[in-house]
Formats: sequence, structure tokens, C-alpha cells
Amino acid sequence: MNEKYSVQKNDPYRLAYHMMPPKGWMNDPNGLIQFKGVYHMFYQYHPYSTEPVLMHWGHAVSSDLVYWKHMPIALTPDQFYDKDGCWSGSAVDNDGVLTLMYSGNIMDSEINRHRQVQCIATSVDGVNFNKYSKNPVILAAPSDGSYDFRDPKVWKYGDMWYAIVGSGKDGIGKALLYRSSNLLEWHYVGVLAQSDGSKGSMWECPDLFPLGDKYVLIVSPIGMEGHKNIYMIGEMNYEDGKFTPQYWGDLDYGPHFYAAQTFSDDQGRRILFAWMSMWGHPNPTKSDGWAGCMTLPRVLTLSPDGSKVKAQPVPELKKLRQKHFCANNIALGEEKNNILNDIKGECFEILAEYQISEQDSAEFGIKLRCSVDRNQETVVGYRSDSRQLFVDTRKSGIVEGDRYVCDLELIEGKFLKIHIFLDRSSVEVFGNEGEVSISSRIFPDPTSINIELFTTKNGIMLTSLNIWELASIW
Ligand code: FRU
Repeated sequence: MNEKYSVQKNDPYRLAYHMMPPKGWMNDPNGLIQFKGVYHMFYQYHPYSTEPVLMHWGHAVSSDLVYWKHMPIALTPDQFYDKDGCWSGSAVDNDGVLTLMYSGNIMDSEINRHRQVQCIATSVDGVNFNKYSKNPVILAAPSDGSYDFRDPKVWKYGDMWYAIVGSGKDGIGKALLYRSSNLLEWHYVGVLAQSDGSKGSMWECPDLFPLGDKYVLIVSPIGMEGHKNIYMIGEMNYEDGKFTPQYWGDLDYGPHFYAAQTFSDDQGRRILFAWMSMWGHPNPTKSDGWAGCMTLPRVLTLSPDGSKVKAQPVPELKKLRQKHFCANNIALGEEKNNILNDIKGECFEILAEYQISEQDSAEFGIKLRCSVDRNQETVVGYRSDSRQLFVDTRKSGIVEGDRYVCDLELIEGKFLKIHIFLDRSSVEVFGNEGEVSISSRIFPDPTSINIELFTTKNGIMLTSLNIWELASIW
């Protein structure tokens, strides 16, 4: 057990308005659902240390996706079939019974490695869960898969339940499709979709859902160089159980966005959360007794031509807005860049809209979490010659950063919108109303609280700037 397990009082990095565990380790969002009008989030959780071991399902509820209340642990690894972890999975509402399907992880000494089986747990009150007496409901992967066989995502289509389970074989990541009439007896249908050889060797956390008039498959591919969490847009054929992708892309371009899962709510929205951290990344909050947090909830939509998935923060987040600063029509240039001198803090929402002319070749944007001597800063900006949005965390703080870049065309060839959510140890940046996003954890000094505008060329038009201080939800 971790000695520094207890939560520290002077914890500079505890998030103010993101879902995070009270203490201990957190990774993937699990079992996202709106059940009897309440939003439920479960998550991979080790409550007794800050290490990713012996996963439980932590649980939190919300009535608005903004304020969260921690609930008792939903699943504990206490059965022969999940003794080495209740791994990721999903939730459905089966006629008033909240039903979880998750992977039981077993360290199998005979084969000397982990393998997973699929299990069911149910709850009527949404708080207390019973594991099904005949678990596991899927004992082993079919020959299309391997011992890596996990993260079932369940949904209903017509009268039938469907589940996809992530796997991989011979270096090819796969989503395996199952069908059931009762959530207990599952029949293998076949490979729903698989990597074309370039998209990873194992697909973790697959999720398939309708969006607009298409279907979208998202996966967290292991071994896909330069990509962490991708989407594929295409057609779903329930007759043969095949998903045919037509387009693909990245869900986010930052370093800390993984294992995304979606659900639909009573407003018909498709909402996504991801784990805002990543395997193998240093986590300085461990000494404060916790590790990991979620992204903000994002609403997914298809771009008008159907070739891209867009993701925007849910409008409910406006509830967090406090003190407001607003300015219009600022021609960026040295004398104007210090208009934010009086705004200081760690938690902001910033909406900046720019107008750029063809000949403007510049790099401009906003520097956040700046120290007085400017040795520390997190830079959010746009490079107009290469049409790229970027977040530069190389000088952000105590963890080594990088410059994270993605392509972003201007709207009508001249307008740009940058929407930023800054929390105590994170920054999420959305470009042009969710066309792209870049999410990163940052670990600045608590005294680095300045903001400033910057440009490499005078005259870029900041047509409107709105900044809100954001409230804490805890
Ligand atoms: C993804 C993942 C899942 C697995 C879980 C274990 O981050 O590796 O595939 O179920 O985490 O915590």
C-alpha cells in the first residue's frame, strides 16, 4: 500500500471542476449512462494506492454533468473470475435494472499472463450491485481473438442486445461482436471491424454508436504510432454484423486523452468522457495521494459532410462561470498584449475569436499559467501560415511537455475560434466549435497564475475575447 495514500491538504494540482477520485488511482471511464434521469459515471479505480492495480469500479453521480457526487464503490475484485481486477465495461438500462457488463481480469499462472472474461452485474437502486451467479457470461475469446479480450460495450438494437469486445490477434486490433436476447447468454457473431494493418495490434475500449445518419466506432489502439484514441465513421450492417469504415480521425490531439466512452442521454445527445491521463506518463500528484481525472463531458456531432466527428464541451458547463471579462476588436500588438494584467488564476474558460487576413503569417494566441518571470507558461496558439492549432507545454511545469499540433482550417478562410478550459492541472482546447481538440495535463507552480495575449506579428484582429473565472465543484 502506498504510504502517501492520504490526500494532502495543500494539493496544488487537485482539479477544481473535473471528475476525479476522492483519493487513489483512476483510469478509464466505465458504464456511462443516464439511468432514471441521473447521470452515472463508473471508473477504473484503485482506492488503496496510487498505482493501477486490482481495479475496482468507482462510482459517481450527477444531475447535470457538472456537479458530481461520489458514491460507494460499485464493483470489487472478489470473485475467481475477476480476482485480478474488475476491468473496463459499460452499462445499459434493462427495463429499470441497471446492468453492467465488464471484463474480469485473471492472472493465469498456467499461461503466465493476464487474460479476461466477460461478466454481468445488476442493480435496481443504481447504488448496490450484484454480480450474476453464473459469471462469467463469456468464458474466453473466440479464435478470432486472443487472451487480450476486454472492455465490452453493450447496446440495444431492435429486440436484441449487442456487445463489442476489444481484442487483437497476430498484430491486428479487432472489435468482436456478440449478440444476446437477455444480456446473460451471448452468441459470437464475428469480427465487427479490424485494423487494416495500420491501426494498432489490440483495440482497447471499443465503442460503436449511431451518429447522424452514420455509425461511429471508436477505439483506443495499442501500438498505433502517433495516435491514442481514434474514431471511424461508416456503415453498420446488422445482417452480417460488419461495420465498414469510410473515414477516420483522432478524437483529440493532446497527450492526455484515452479510453474514451460515450452514452446517449434523454436529450438525444451523444456524450463522451475520456481519461485525461495516459499509460506511462509521469504523474506528480501521486505524492498527494491521487492520480488521474476525466476530461470534461463533450457532445459529439458529425461535420456537415459526414467525414469528421466534432466534440464540444456540454453547454451545462456554463453553470461554472463566475467573474467575467470581455473585450472586443483588439488589434494584437505589443501595447495591447498586456490588457489581461489584472486577470490571474488557475481556473478559466476562455473564448477567443480572431479574424485573420490572407497575408497574415503569424503565430498568435494566449499564454496561460505564466510565472512572473515568464520562465513558466503554457501556450495555446494558432500558426496561420501552416493553418495549425497548437498547445505548447514545454515550459508548463514540473513534467516534461511538448508542442502538440493539429491542422485547423479557418472558417470561411478568415475566422478562428479558440475555446479553452483551464483547470488547476489541465488544459483542454477546442478549435472552431469542436472541429479539433487538444487535451493535456500540466503541472505548473501554484504561483504561475498570469495570462497574456501574444502575437509574432502586429495587427491580427482579436474580434472578441471572453474570459470567465470558473467555480470549483468540490
Ligand atoms: C484501458 C485499459 C482497458 C482495461 C483497463 C484496465 O486504459 O487498459 O483495456 O480494461 O484499462 O484498467
